[in-house]
Amino acid sequence: MLNLARLESSGIVAQIEFHAEIGSTNDRASQLAGAELQLPLLVIADRQTAGRGRGANRWWSAPGALTFSLLVESAAASVQPTQWPQLSLTAGLAVCEALQALLPQQLWGVKWPNDVYLGGPTGLQKVCGILIESPSARRGRLIIGIGINVNNSFAAAPEELRERATALCDVAGRSFDRTDVLLQVIHSLHRRWGMLGILGFGALADDWRRYCILQGQTVTLEQGGERVVGLCQSIDDDGALVLQTPTERRRCIAGTIVQFE
Ligand code: BTN
Repeated sequence: MLNLARLESSGIVAQIEFHAEIGSTNDRASQLAGAELQLPLLVIADRQTAGRGRGANRWWSAPGALTFSLLVESAAASVQPTQWPQLSLTAGLAVCEALQALLPQQLWGVKWPNDVYLGGPTGLQKVCGILIESPSARRGRLIIGIGINVNNSFAAAPEELRERATALCDVAGRSFDRTDVLLQVIHSLHRRWGMLGILGFGALADDWRRYCILQGQTVTLEQGGERVVGLCQSIDDDGALVLQTPTERRRCIAGTIVQFE
């Protein structure tokens, strides 16, 4: 059970809306985005029936996962909507650091722009997905939707899925207090978000690169019907993924990684 009183007393979120079941916390945050609200607002659900991932993807999670959205004022960190790659990377970095603090003996990394992966003996497995959206009802506000596999074990999942994803409980061999995990994540987001406001994105670029799991991998990126295949060289200071294709060095500022090896 989530401890809402503990979350409230953290002082980081101004308002909390809890749902035992909802379609999607991002959709709910988007509905609320036009209203006069105290921000950050946390919308959290024990179960989503229509969780969304990036593009046309669905985000499916069994009971025990942590699924929530934060509605924030982007101006609070001097973030422009055009700075999405940097913002996504910063959110991914913050979650990655939070999970590393919870399970320090594991190797954690960010798959550009913001999925969080664990490096295990069987390869890289996804633990967290992040969906950042700009609500149409109010410019200047942003929704940071986060899904983390916490106590939703993948032990009985089909092998194909188990190879690609895992949960904290499977890695640690024990269950986690989801309030602890959530507090760790929102503290980390708050810290990194605060750094943005004071120091700007440049101060975070080295950390994005430190946690980049794609460096040195051959990556296939899809964007607007186009596919780019190249060797990932780095992430630049603007948050772009730098790929060396057979013909050019290409900076990618948007798109989805559909394959990497
Ligand atoms: C991805 O991996 O493509 C992003 C997944 C994001 C899932 C989270 S769960 C909470 C929030 N509500 C949603 O509908 N999606 C995000």
